[in-house]
Amino acid sequence: MTETSQRKADHINLALQAKHQAATSAGFDLVQFEHNALPELLVSEVDCSTVFLNQYCSTPLIIGAMTGGCEHGETINRHLAEAAEQAQIPMALGSQRGALEDGLVQNLRRWAPKANLLGNIGGTQLLQHGVEFAQRAVDSVQANAMIIHLNPLQELVQPKGDRDWRGVLDAIEECCATLSVPVIVKEVGSGIGPTSAQRLIDVGVSWIEIAGRGGTSWASIESARIEQTREQQIAEPFLDWGMNTAQLIARVRSQSSQLGVIASGGLRNGLDIARSLRLGANMSAMAQPFLEPALESTEAVLEKIEILREQLRWAMFLTGSKNLKKLQSAALL
Ligand SMILES: Cc1cc2nc3c(=O)[nH]c(=O)nc-3n(C[C@H](O)[C@H](O)[C@H](O)COP(=O)(O)O)c2cc1C
Repeated sequence: MTETSQRKADHINLALQAKHQAATSAGFDLVQFEHNALPELLVSEVDCSTVFLNQYCSTPLIIGAMTGGCEHGETINRHLAEAAEQAQIPMALGSQRGALEDGLVQNLRRWAPKANLLGNIGGTQLLQHGVEFAQRAVDSVQANAMIIHLNPLQELVQPKGDRDWRGVLDAIEECCATLSVPVIVKEVGSGIGPTSAQRLIDVGVSWIEIAGRGGTSWASIESARIEQTREQQIAEPFLDWGMNTAQLIARVRSQSSQLGVIASGGLRNGLDIARSLRLGANMSAMAQPFLEPALESTEAVLEKIEILREQLRWAMFLTGSKNLKKLQSAALL
């Protein structure tokens, strides 16, 4: 096994362990809807559908970016892609860096010919390889949009991680100006705060995925992979570093009413999706909750999506919201 595929296999195994979830909650427990004892709705008529990047979406939920490129990578991606296609929800790919560098064909379209697929590369890879690299990532899967992930803490903890982040914002600006599809910028669990969001908006980014603290902790996962005690000691105070997802959604939304906001990082059920939309998000994304079903089967992923959709529907019913527009102004206590 190569070093990269070993790292990806480690990531999957460790991400499945509850101890690598953030110690601090994403903050959704503090968001309390006013219960509507008189919904005056028929549950089956509650409409959770939306439009994302000009495409119908049955639920405002994206299967979050998870890496391929290891022994289980192909199976995971197949199950996720088939489920995304059938359930009519978007799927974000894991980092395409390895596949592009090794010249591998990423034929996800055979499983998801019509689905909204979002490509993925890291901000530092964009810096190192240029916009052509991002365009190749888009073309290789006919992606509907390109996600650029920013993970400075993860890179610090990771052995041989990227430590030179000078020029990443300029590279993103060039990407927004020249790429053939919209650019989405995300974190991986520390969150994109109002100041970073504004800098991204100023260079032309139209969608931000929050990926705040409260879910998968990459500092914790990478720290478990390093053997040097000295490095672990340095990383120790940063294991729970980051900003809570729920608080960030409202703050980032207040930066711009035009910006597309994707809530992610620690969302764990359909009620969290409802709360994040009420706080100002347009869409939500979950990664880790799909990992176990993705290792099992397409049906298991579909079942997970169904449960999440039903939970969202219940939250909408119990707040008297017949569609997502109504949910966005549902009463909070
Ligand atoms: C196994 C695994 C692999 C991941 N790989 C990537 C990746 O390649 N690119 C990326 O942008 N994010 C990656 N992520 C981060 C997620 O997309 C997400 O931002 C983060 O895990 C927080 O969401 P969660 O709490 O729902 O897991 C990965 C997450 C998991 C669990």
